[in-house]
Amino acid sequence: MDIIIRDNYEEMSKYAAGVIAGFVRKKPDCVLGLATGSTPIGTYRELIRMHKEEGLDFSGVRTFNLDEYLGIGMDLSKPYNEDQSYARFMYEELLRHINIKEGNVCIPDGMTKDPEKFCLWYEEEIRKAGGIDLQLLGIGGDGHWAFNEPGSSLASRTRVQALAKQTLDDNYELFYKNAGVSREEMPHFAITMGIGTILETRNILMMASGIKKADVVAKALEGPVTSQITASAIQLHPGGITVVLDRDAASRLANTDHYMHMEKLKEQYRL
Ligand code: PGA
Repeated sequence: MDIIIRDNYEEMSKYAAGVIAGFVRKKPDCVLGLATGSTPIGTYRELIRMHKEEGLDFSGVRTFNLDEYLGIGMDLSKPYNEDQSYARFMYEELLRHINIKEGNVCIPDGMTKDPEKFCLWYEEEIRKAGGIDLQLLGIGGDGHWAFNEPGSSLASRTRVQALAKQTLDDNYELFYKNAGVSREEMPHFAITMGIGTILETRNILMMASGIKKADVVAKALEGPVTSQITASAIQLHPGGITVVLDRDAASRLANTDHYMHMEKLKEQYRL
């Protein structure tokens, strides 16, 4: 596991965008797993810049998103702040600014009439695409990956998940409050890729920023693997793992010197 610590959010975002761009350049038809939330916004901005200024080409790239609220879908007739779907977020923050093909984007359908059938279909689509080459992930305040709330099986698959109180609180503050939606009105369920699904991706790029994430990042990376902090499943992932943190999010890690030492050595030997 490569743990990379950068001074601030901007530097963290640039590093993460560089990792993603590296995958896209090396394998122009790669399959990217994308994430929503406040954390990846800077990374997406940097990718848009790379597309516009450096010609980073997404025309062969396929994407799958981690999750979507159940009961809402993208509604382009509404202004941005009134449509809180993750699909809308993805289009506004990244997809409509790059040259990705519409048919290559796959986001869970929050309006599906048959969520269970949809979840099976989603897993099958990932399989048919040949699996995910690089999965981008944040970490929730309760330690979740995607919407795999505490107590989710570490072998779980794509499914409907009830949202934890802390997730409802966090997302209400960040996304719903400004939209004039009451806490009761915001969705309380979501479709989410499972931890088992995420562990099958070939590479993982996890990001976290800010002091509010410091405790949970330390638990996930250095604590025991537990379904109470589903992001701790990162320790079970068999492929390439990169974790990019800003200084605040890294501030409660015990082994920071070791991670910095390893980063230096790897740079030196270009590993
Ligand atoms: P955030 O969410 O990026 O808004 O902090 C992360 C997550 O819930 O995974």
